[in-house]
Amino acid sequence: MALKTDDLRVYYQTLKGDVKALDGASFTLEDGEIMGLAGESGCGKSTLAKSLILLKPPMKYVEGRVRLDGEELPIWDDEKMNSFRYKNVSIIPQYAMNAMNPTRKIGKMVKELLKSRGISPGEKRDELEHRLDLVDLTRDVLSMYPIELSGGMKQRMVMVISSLLDPSLLMADEITSALDVSTQKAVSEMLVEFRDKDFIKSLIFITHDISILYQIADSITVMYAGKLVERAPTEEITGRPLHPYTKLLISSLPKIGAKYTEEKLEGIPGKPPELLEPPEGCRFKNRCPKKEEECDEEPPFREVSPGHKVACWKVKKDVS
Ligand SMILES: Nc1ncnc2c1ncn2[C@@H]1O[C@H](COP(=O)(O)OP(=O)(O)OP(=O)(O)O)[C@@H](O)[C@H]1O
Ligand code: SF4
Ligand SMILES: [Mg+2]
Repeated sequence: MALKTDDLRVYYQTLKGDVKALDGASFTLEDGEIMGLAGESGCGKSTLAKSLILLKPPMKYVEGRVRLDGEELPIWDDEKMNSFRYKNVSIIPQYAMNAMNPTRKIGKMVKELLKSRGISPGEKRDELEHRLDLVDLTRDVLSMYPIELSGGMKQRMVMVISSLLDPSLLMADEITSALDVSTQKAVSEMLVEFRDKDFIKSLIFITHDISILYQIADSITVMYAGKLVERAPTEEITGRPLHPYTKLLISSLPKIGAKYTEEKLEGIPGKPPELLEPPEGCRFKNRCPKKEEECDEEPPFREVSPGHKVACWKVKKDVS
């Protein structure tokens, strides 16, 4: 198995107290698996991804363990993590396209990244050119400034850079949200190709566009208010969602294959709880149509059928 997290908790330290953005995430990702990560804005998706690569203040490691390819990832130790970053675990961060340094030519940026990992740029030259070909970028981009590239070109360039060292795990955070529909599809399919060509072993694909997950993800994990609430193979979770939140999420889609937006998610009555002081018990209880007394206690994230995990007291009743 590629990745295993155990009860991972990462908070943000603020003047008002700790924002419990990731509050006990346990899951495993198999070699070769593409996992889609979905859920409303602010539920902790980026926090989960960022914590696996660069945990910097105000983010605070609270507890939990992470193993990647059988080795412990020391996510609480910035310096020790240095030897894993980009080589074993890499990220295409949310808003990466706009975060590129505007005063550096692309080629220079790539060289600097390689040098910072102790790799001579010449060593990777052929591979870099091969990958540019694969994502339909000409070599000229290396002598261009980010501003000279279109949104789609920038995104493809960021994909090449973040996977150049063949990381075991790549995390792609909302990489398609700023792109038009056909570019979104092309960019997502390129990542699948990266997996098929063994550039990366497994992928966590974070998106608000569940229709892209239908197309590329082997499994989907749904988060709500800092917790994992459901995880199952894609066909299973889209065809037989069990958690009341996932059900609402999927039923709020106009039809399979259609894009869902923040606005549609807000169609679910009520708002997610404050993560500074989340409610005791199930964090979905204030919005849940199935809430009962027992929901004042936290439901465990448990397997209800092979490969299908859900955190809901009611599901246990439905299945048994
Ligand atoms: N620097 C910060 N300081 C305090 N709280 C933060 C900080 N960054 C994020 N948070 C809070 O942590 C929670 C999770 O944020 P996160 O960015 O992980 O959500 P997300 O699921 O990625 O949302 P989106 O879909 O909008 O990208 C949110 O409640 C957010 O307000
Ligand atoms: S545990 Fe209760 S409140 Fe939470 S999702 Fe299930 S039924 Fe709803
Ligand atoms: Mg995010």
